[in-house]
Amino acid sequence: MVTKGEHAMTRIALVGQGYMARTHAAAYAALGLGERIAYVCTPRPGAPIEGAPRARFVTDLATVLSDPDVGVLSVCTPTPTHADIAVAALGAGKHVLLEKPIALTPDDAARIAKASSTATGTLMVAQVVRFFPGYEQVHATVEAGTIGTPVSVRAKRLSNRPDWAQWWADESQSGGVLVDFAIHDFDQLNLLLGQPVSVYSVRRDEFGPIETSVRYASGAVGQVLSHCSLPAGAPFTSAIEVLGTEGSVEYTLLAGSATEGDAGSALPGTNVVRTVTADRRFDTDVPDDDPYTRQIDYFLRCIAGGVAPERSSVPSAILALDVARAARESVRSEQKVVLSPEDFVPPESDASTRRVDG
Ligand SMILES: NC(=O)c1ccc[n+]([C@@H]2O[C@H](COP(=O)([O-])OP(=O)(O)OC[C@H]3O[C@@H](n4cnc5c(N)ncnc54)[C@H](O)[C@@H]3O)[C@@H](O)[C@H]2O)c1
Repeated sequence: MVTKGEHAMTRIALVGQGYMARTHAAAYAALGLGERIAYVCTPRPGAPIEGAPRARFVTDLATVLSDPDVGVLSVCTPTPTHADIAVAALGAGKHVLLEKPIALTPDDAARIAKASSTATGTLMVAQVVRFFPGYEQVHATVEAGTIGTPVSVRAKRLSNRPDWAQWWADESQSGGVLVDFAIHDFDQLNLLLGQPVSVYSVRRDEFGPIETSVRYASGAVGQVLSHCSLPAGAPFTSAIEVLGTEGSVEYTLLAGSATEGDAGSALPGTNVVRTVTADRRFDTDVPDDDPYTRQIDYFLRCIAGGVAPERSSVPSAILALDVARAARESVRSEQKVVLSPEDFVPPESDASTRRVDG
């Protein structure tokens, strides 16, 4: 974990003051950095944010960007605003942690990527599922070769409807369930299976269930179940199962529901990774560490080390968006959507030669 001293000179600004801004504030506070949050930038300033006791509320981004003491921005605003805010912040030399999805459109995503490629600051897209300890253990198992070559990934994400954000239910603002919500799972499939080549998606209704199949260049297949209509009180569920040539590894997180404010915290007795091979079957307990805190800790350590955040790279965020948009197009057209090979940027392409381990 990063220590307060390592970032003693850096001040932080939250852009937005909704659900994710509060989540980021809590994560900075957990790292001992809550008092470093100097600004909350939002069009309609509201109640103080817990974890950010010294934050000054401002309505214009220019105030934040012109403050030389501010080094880091957490951008936690509705997705259509991401590109303008991220490009301005990177242009002002700031480090940017940008909530997922990177953007709604390929053009906006490309604008962000271009700004990042010439910026002095670091950009990381907050694909937080990469920082869930259970998912990390699944990856470590695959990386270790325990289950051989991965040939199938099934992922599942079930939630209540996020009714705290009015804009969310409007697909033109959020991208809908496939772009806003399932993007975490498409990112996981890409991470484990490589280059996606085609996408086919069917749904019962716009909030789910939606079933998406993704074919990969290697011949591997992915399947994602997305559903945002769980009954009130039902646990948030996030799951992944990887089948390899020599075995399988699976993880299911059952957590408090997002609408009750405790999403991410595992229900007792459910937090294990299960690995099965021909000669071994074992469960591994997963620590109930907050993934948002782990994500910010990693981001700050990348900044401190002057290295690219390869664990959550910009090309991988764009590729996840490509698959999510293809899934949405498939739902509409009821056809398989073929992805063009030029969409694929190998994950190592933006990796630094130096590395920050998780
Ligand atoms: N990683 C995750 O687990 C996760 C979960 C939920 C949402 N998200 C993402 O986080 C982002 C924000 O979602 P949310 O649920 O916090 O939404 P929200 O509606 O709760 O909060 C959005 C905030 O942004 C403010 N805002 C709007 N336009 C702005 C602008 N131009 N400048 C500054 N502030 C502005 C709003 O007033 C509000 O305070 C979205 O991109 C969403 O997809 C990520």
